[in-house]
Amino acid sequence: MSSEQQSGRRPQIQSDLTETFKGFSKLSREERFDRLNEIGALTKEEVQFLRQGGLKSPELAEKFIENTLGYFQIPMGVATNFKIDGRDYVIPMAVEETSIIAAASKTAKWVREEGELTTESYGNLIIGQIQIANVRNFADFANTVTANSMTWIELANRDVAFGLVARGGGVREIQVRQVPRGFNADGTDAGTMAVIHVLADPCDAMGANIINQVCEYLKNHVEHATGEKVTMCILSNLVDTKLTRARVVLPNIDPELGKKIEEASLFALQDPYRAATNNKGVLNGIDPILIATGNDWRAVEAGVHAYAARDGQYRSITKWKMEGTSLVGLFEAPIVVGTVGGVTKLHPTAQLSLNMLGIESASELSRICAAVGLIQNLGALKALTTVGIIEGHMKLHIKNLTLGAGALEKEVPLVQKRLEEILMLTKRITLSNAIEVLREIRAAGKDAASGVKDATPIPAK
Ligand code: MEV
Repeated sequence: MSSEQQSGRRPQIQSDLTETFKGFSKLSREERFDRLNEIGALTKEEVQFLRQGGLKSPELAEKFIENTLGYFQIPMGVATNFKIDGRDYVIPMAVEETSIIAAASKTAKWVREEGELTTESYGNLIIGQIQIANVRNFADFANTVTANSMTWIELANRDVAFGLVARGGGVREIQVRQVPRGFNADGTDAGTMAVIHVLADPCDAMGANIINQVCEYLKNHVEHATGEKVTMCILSNLVDTKLTRARVVLPNIDPELGKKIEEASLFALQDPYRAATNNKGVLNGIDPILIATGNDWRAVEAGVHAYAARDGQYRSITKWKMEGTSLVGLFEAPIVVGTVGGVTKLHPTAQLSLNMLGIESASELSRICAAVGLIQNLGALKALTTVGIIEGHMKLHIKNLTLGAGALEKEVPLVQKRLEEILMLTKRITLSNAIEVLREIRAAGKDAASGVKDATPIPAK
């Protein structure tokens, strides 16, 4: 071990992680720590922190929320094999659902070996909204806002967003939108709502607090200049002014598989019932990274779903198409994240995750999320159009069923093996199967032969 690793100083993560990822899922937890420490993804101190179970401090919990009782812990692991924009990443994912990390890592390996995964960001402005519920004359209102907008931008940057301005961001633009109020019960026109959009560059912050502060600060100015009453101010999660894209190209894919994935994609594009599940699968890849890095996953979820419905119908957020002999996949949605401020700074596991990623900016984090979401979607579509979801899912779920049936530690391998055989034969497996198998094994006295009488039972999941 180098002196750098011993001192905990983080060496540069090496560029090609093929060797690090080789057989990673078969390693023990200690061996995984060693590999990640060797490449500088985790320091010795971070390994020690994870080894003792991560964050436990009740004092810190008090800082996050009110009426604190403790922590609800979910497992955190790493997805492997990701090469994004030509760079290898170790991707932290905090998630409770079996098979998400395995599927992401397996699909990333496929794309790493046979294709490419690239990303881009488009736009950098977040949106704050100021609502005037029922404006008297929209044209007059819009003219006044437009005439004052430069002054308001300068004031907001001087008095509120000065920190952002110092970092190269700040309030950039003010727009006015007219939103119909619909009709009254008696069929008459219910008038016009005016909505001001305040656009700001949040740099590496998610920007929610600052944009809300800017809007509330501007409220008085708007009311004074227009003579209208502001109803409310809040950011919008439909950030179509700051989009993230990911693209997968798999040249020379088996044409039959490529065609099936294209058909599955069309299903999710055209049918909202399927689109919801497709997009849930995409978010299976995104949310765990957001959680691990202390980001607001509800905000991203809201933005992704709203963007998926932007043409009036809820559709898939990804698209897969055969182009010649290549399968091409695309993801585009707002993924507004931060790498500074809020929980990202306060939560030691979030800091550890950001360090592990070795990223330079919030834009890079959002592009990683998009890439993993698209890969997760590809893995799901491949499974769904070939072996079906049960096989892969259940193979990994077998361990949970085994423990759920009450198997002792030494019984686990035997029960698992038998359940895998049943799965191969019947294509389905339930907790009743696990209980039955365990009963049979015990009846056959195999447990006695392997000396498990004194073994400690593993708590059921
Ligand atoms: C399960 O968590 C996610 C999937 O349902 C996604 C999909 O159907 O595309 C497998």
